[in-house]
Amino acid sequence: MLDVPIVILNVKCYEEATGEALNRIIEAMNKTSLEYGVSAAIAVQASDIYRSSLVSKIPILAQHVDAVDYGSFTGHILPEAVKFAGAKGSLVNHSEYRLELWAIDSIIKRLKSLELTQVICSNNDDVSRAVAAFEPDFVAVEPPELIGGDISVSKAKPEIVSNSVEKVKGISKRTKVLCGAGIKNSEDVSKAIQLGADGVLLASGIVRAKDLYGACEDIFRGI
Ligand code: G3P
Repeated sequence: MLDVPIVILNVKCYEEATGEALNRIIEAMNKTSLEYGVSAAIAVQASDIYRSSLVSKIPILAQHVDAVDYGSFTGHILPEAVKFAGAKGSLVNHSEYRLELWAIDSIIKRLKSLELTQVICSNNDDVSRAVAAFEPDFVAVEPPELIGGDISVSKAKPEIVSNSVEKVKGISKRTKVLCGAGIKNSEDVSKAIQLGADGVLLASGIVRAKDLYGACEDIFRGI
């Protein structure tokens, strides 16, 4: 289990985080999380897990794994393979890669059996409640309409954050709750924490920032 409060950065498939460019982001996240003494993790593309794990002191996560076992599957991402590559866990059911409930259940069980952290994304309160029943390590609530925008979930929809915290913890005491979408600065982060969240899941606020270090510092300062 990763420590909380936590900042999880999902670099998605942004050009700014592909190839060589990813190294700068990993370095900035490592330095600023250490400087502020705040727990952090980075979810990278599957092809980057191995090399990222070699250079990062903070945990590397997969952005997705498939509900498949060893065997005759092509083009899938095997949970065991991301563990061998160095990942400490995975995002599951991101709004940009939604899964059916049976697959979420199966993936959570596989990740737990491999002792990999499970960060289950949810797009609303009802989905948060449904996935909390699987007792994952984290549920990350992200209203899809705010993803990639400039208005944060903690400011635009504070009730979604506080409701999710209450509902998820009412179902699974062990599960930590994150919020994400539009998180851009320390105010967005501190508001999320005030609403009861155990941290944030963000992407463009850091990956697409003109001043990468400044953006990282601002986010970590909010915790
Ligand atoms: O996984 C994080 C994400 O979906 C939020 O994206 O760009 O709104 O921080 P962004």
